[in-house]
Amino acid sequence: MPNHYWEFDMGNLDLNKLYLVSAFLAMEPSDSLISLARRCGGGFISEEVQQFIWDYCINKFDENLHVPYLKLFLKKLIKEIELTGSNVLDEFYERYAHYMVSLKEDASEKAWIVKCISFIFHDIPSYPGEMQMVVPLQCSLNMLQGDTGCALWPSCLFLSEFVLSFPEVFTRKSCFEVGSGVGLLGVCLNHVNASQVILSDGDASSLANLKINLEMNKIENPEASLDKSTDSSYMVQCIHLPWESAKESELQQIKSDIVLGADVIYDPSCLPHLVQVLSIFLNRRKTSDSKLNGSARVDNKEEDCLGDDSTESNTATLQEATLRTLIKEMDIGPVAIIASVIRNIDTFNCFLNLCCQNNLLVRDITKSIRPYNLLPYMESYKRSDVHLLVLSYVS
Ligand SMILES: C[S@@+](CC[C@H](N)C(=O)[O-])C[C@H]1O[C@@H](n2cnc3c(N)ncnc32)[C@H](O)[C@@H]1O
Repeated sequence: MPNHYWEFDMGNLDLNKLYLVSAFLAMEPSDSLISLARRCGGGFISEEVQQFIWDYCINKFDENLHVPYLKLFLKKLIKEIELTGSNVLDEFYERYAHYMVSLKEDASEKAWIVKCISFIFHDIPSYPGEMQMVVPLQCSLNMLQGDTGCALWPSCLFLSEFVLSFPEVFTRKSCFEVGSGVGLLGVCLNHVNASQVILSDGDASSLANLKINLEMNKIENPEASLDKSTDSSYMVQCIHLPWESAKESELQQIKSDIVLGADVIYDPSCLPHLVQVLSIFLNRRKTSDSKLNGSARVDNKEEDCLGDDSTESNTATLQEATLRTLIKEMDIGPVAIIASVIRNIDTFNCFLNLCCQNNLLVRDITKSIRPYNLLPYMESYKRSDVHLLVLSYVS
């Protein structure tokens, strides 16, 4: 028997049902759940699909899930089934009526929820066959509890897919994340056997929540700080690192191969400090600049050669070339991999200008390499909104 509801075996479900349960556990919007339920029934929510929803979603996890979420889902589900003229499962009415009378509309109630992010591997090169990896994460429902770092952001989903899609980039590499938030990326880096994972955040409540999430995922992480040497026998460590007060001498102690950041480019007032931190981490070359510039050019050249012809083999060639370049760059010096949704172009340009002033070369590899779609059920996540940048130091 699994100890937690996210540990139950989903391996025996067919793909559409697997997507539906995964979307339910990730607390996707009710409309997405309903469209996935329709797909399970071949266009409508049949009685068999209703029974499945009852057995595998509502009844199975009821005690653990957020009741207002369940209530809204049931309301929309019942409405959808009634509209198509089908019979609604009695249990749906009974449970909905129960929530109607018993649920207090108290906004402060249960501000924390556990979302389970299920990565679904369906015959991708690094994981042949079928596999699911379920990551439970405590998140703040409204960000009144905790700051931005207590919610899950799209770039973090994207970068996690990237890490799991291309483990060869991260395996046996030491990785440092800035602005780690709920810690999903850290769990993925641990999964692909990075040699060391240091997660950091400037917000104390986000850091405390991050530690809870690592524990929930059975990842040991000791107290650590930049000024104390950390026990290297622990692969994952968490550090309080506000970019504004980071000390150069302390940052220089950390010799990571890869610095990661997801959705950290959004507050113009923080950007000079963030770029300063990145610049200190990345200013640790192993060979000459000319080699670095050369490798950056190779990648651009290959992309140029391919022009607009985006056939499958061209895409694969470009992807391989980009991966090779990235791995080669890491032999020369540390790189930063930053994923970001550009919400304000001025803020993004400000970041680029600051990088330039701090000797950081920024390459946008969004079009050259895409991670596999490991979250195919997650309609709320727009992968195409996310940009992927590689930063390296040039003098
Ligand atoms: C938009 S959230 C992204 C969180 C996470 N990377 C994700 O994608 O889900 C931004 C993160 O950066 C952290 N952050 C913002 N400003 C910071 C600063 N000045 N110093 C350190 N961390 C900061 C926040 O606490 C938060 O965890």
